Amino acid sequence: FRVNWDLAVAEKAGYDHFMLKEIHDQPQAYRDTLSGRLFKGYPWVYLPELKLTPEQIKQFRNIHIVACGTAYHAGLVGKTAIERWARLPVEAEVASEYRYRSPLITPETLVIVVSQSGETADTLAALREAKRHGARVLAVTNVVGSTAAREADDVLFTWAGPEISVASTKAYSTQLLAFYAFAIHLARIRGTLPDEEIGPIVHALTKLPEQVESILQRKDEIKSYAEEIASREHLFFIGRGVDYAVVQEGSLKLKEISYIHSEAYAAGELKHGTLALIEEGTPVVALATQPDLYEKTVSNIREVMARGAGVLGIATEETAGLAGSVDRLLLIPSTHPMIAPALTVIPLQLLAYYASVARGYDVDKPRNLAKSVTVE
Ligand code: G6P
Repeated sequence: FRVNWDLAVAEKAGYDHFMLKEIHDQPQAYRDTLSGRLFKGYPWVYLPELKLTPEQIKQFRNIHIVACGTAYHAGLVGKTAIERWARLPVEAEVASEYRYRSPLITPETLVIVVSQSGETADTLAALREAKRHGARVLAVTNVVGSTAAREADDVLFTWAGPEISVASTKAYSTQLLAFYAFAIHLARIRGTLPDEEIGPIVHALTKLPEQVESILQRKDEIKSYAEEIASREHLFFIGRGVDYAVVQEGSLKLKEISYIHSEAYAAGELKHGTLALIEEGTPVVALATQPDLYEKTVSNIREVMARGAGVLGIATEETAGLAGSVDRLLLIPSTHPMIAPALTVIPLQLLAYYASVARGYDVDKPRNLAKSVTVE
């Protein structure tokens, strides 16, 4: 009697690819990231691992968020959350540019480096540059003992668990949660967000794991859309505010594993040139989860529809009226608008995954790419 034991199959826990397993890991990853950091009904977060004192936090004049690839996209959401809640100016930049433009770093600058692996060469170079200028550095990373974790002054671990697939999924989404928690922490110390506003944000965060589960249960809706667009050469993603930040990640995901060319555009910017590329049948994925930006986003969607685009809209229950303005609609559960990226990224990950499968590619090993890039 012999058992055929395939380690890779066992590690994938029955899923066809690591990426699909890691997408499905997200409800648990969210629980792990939030565990011990926030509690239902309490309008604050606990980040006891931070050595940063409230006095130091009050002295910061600005924040730089520096990262590469997917981690940079998480930083774009982090920038919006910190600016909105903690009222500090934040710049987010890719590490390979930041390092070489002699950024204005002072001892009153907090530099946040974001890196799943904690080993990306460009990000580490930026970290060292920041320290050389006397800035305090906070690393947001998934790997305990990584270079970024060791060299930074403070670390927030994302607790996503090991991520094997080259295309990052749960590392990104847990980075978002780390940013939300840190932004609340800053806001509370700086007195920029009243408890009545923090309460609903904390509540929204605690609901995320079950909401992600409910999106995953409807993955066939995304699968059928992915199969439709799999034969296309170009696709556009549009959105405003944090929807724009998250479509940049959705577009990267689609490019890296399905090799379909896509562009993510700020919905209001499309008309300044790129609209020329929209023609009969061009697929457009439009996010419209932000109630205060909803009307403007809908008018941008009308602009592409008028040129023949086929639009998949993604909205929440608050913006479900979008159904009347798009060809098809995917509804995600209702949440706090700033938290929406932690949900909307899930269908975008699934779209990239199923498009790659439909085109017959090796999802976990995209061509030309490495999980961790240790050269500058
Ligand atoms: C590589 C990976 C990307 C990742 C980037 C940054 O390019 O393929 O998925 O986002 O590095 O990696 P890090 O480990 O620093 O987050």
